[in-house]
Amino acid sequence: MTTTATNKVEIRRGLMGVYFDRTDSCFIDGTIGKLLYRGYDIHELAEKSTFEEVIYLLLNGKLPTRRELDGFDRQLRADRDIPDDVLDIINKVKDGHPMDVLRTAVSALSAYDPEVKDNSEAAIIRKGLRLTAKAPTIVAAHDRIRKGLKPVKPNANLNHAGNFLYMLFGKEPSEDEMHIMDVDFILHAEHGANASAFAARVAASTQTDLHSAVVAGIATLKGPAHGGAAEEVMKMAEEIGQPEKADGYARNILDHGGRVMGFGHRVYKAEDPRARHMRERSHTLGIAKGQPQWFEILTKLQEVMKPYQARGIFVNVDFFAGSVYYLMGIPEDIFISIFALGRIPGWTLNVAEQYRSNILIRPLTDYNGPMDLEYVPISQRR
Ligand code: CMC
Repeated sequence: MTTTATNKVEIRRGLMGVYFDRTDSCFIDGTIGKLLYRGYDIHELAEKSTFEEVIYLLLNGKLPTRRELDGFDRQLRADRDIPDDVLDIINKVKDGHPMDVLRTAVSALSAYDPEVKDNSEAAIIRKGLRLTAKAPTIVAAHDRIRKGLKPVKPNANLNHAGNFLYMLFGKEPSEDEMHIMDVDFILHAEHGANASAFAARVAASTQTDLHSAVVAGIATLKGPAHGGAAEEVMKMAEEIGQPEKADGYARNILDHGGRVMGFGHRVYKAEDPRARHMRERSHTLGIAKGQPQWFEILTKLQEVMKPYQARGIFVNVDFFAGSVYYLMGIPEDIFISIFALGRIPGWTLNVAEQYRSNILIRPLTDYNGPMDLEYVPISQRR
């Protein structure tokens, strides 16, 4: 841990190991790779639940009855459309990175949300659900617009995951593809005080609105140390090209002090429990699509990284996810946006929790620059 004690204060760089509040949403034990949403194990949720049910669980604190889930799902399906004005904005910024376009469009949606200024918990959750419902429409419409295609209208007959793929590709996905996307959204739905949720909480702590907090979350997720790793992993796999070259490629990165993307985590010092579900899919989908090489390359990289396990560096959720998206035909620069689509309920939950017992988040930095310098007028400076 990087802890610098000056003669005045103790500094915890990166807030490493610092608890700043309590939560009842997400439990993580990074030493054994355990993750619970509202007390339920991520493996059980990934295997038995649906994204819609997980959103309900996260935002309501309990699993829904059949009737509750049906009503909730109906509302989500009804909220998928985005205003034409927002489509126009997407069109204007279509050459930007999909995360920049998503950030801009979510920001623009605030102008159309009737409850934008209502910061009651019930309104925060309603707004979060509307954003959850609309965000896939933004990502899919942007991809089609930039390719010169017409955006596809949401299809209320498909579930959240299936409808996203339908709007992206303009055709109904297979059951298998829908299921993979659904599991992926479940795995990304919430993750405690991660950097983007913390950014959203910092924004909420100033009593700003949910849209602003989610924009902060999207902006923070974009970086390669957080959500951007899946895209980087796939680029790396493509650059490697053949399983036999993986060993030399990774060793070269490590010998030059670099990082192999998709490995390491601030909290997990064992394997990220979310990785397991994408590993299986990377393997089976690769065989089904006649492209087993990506899984083989990733497996080789894991072998090279084995000695790093002694230092707590294991694969994280992003390591296999990139290859799964790639095999589904999803453009690489949309990988982070998919993470964001899954995480909107988590950001909403964090903002609601922050509001429930709000306190301004405002830490300190220890000043170590010069003091009391004489101000020299610009005409006399050299
Ligand atoms: N490859 C090689 N060495 C690594 C890696 C890696 N991927 N990750 C960490 N290390 C080393 C690092 O060089 C450092 O070594 P030393 O102590 O000798 O300087 C040590 O491990 C600790 O690393 P750190 O950066 O101080 O640890 P952190 O907790 O600040 O960083 C991390 C966590 C995720 C930013 C980092 O592991 C990383 O950059 N990984 C690659 C990017 C990546 O896969 N990000 C996705 C994270 S999972 C999605 C999510 O939940 O956000």
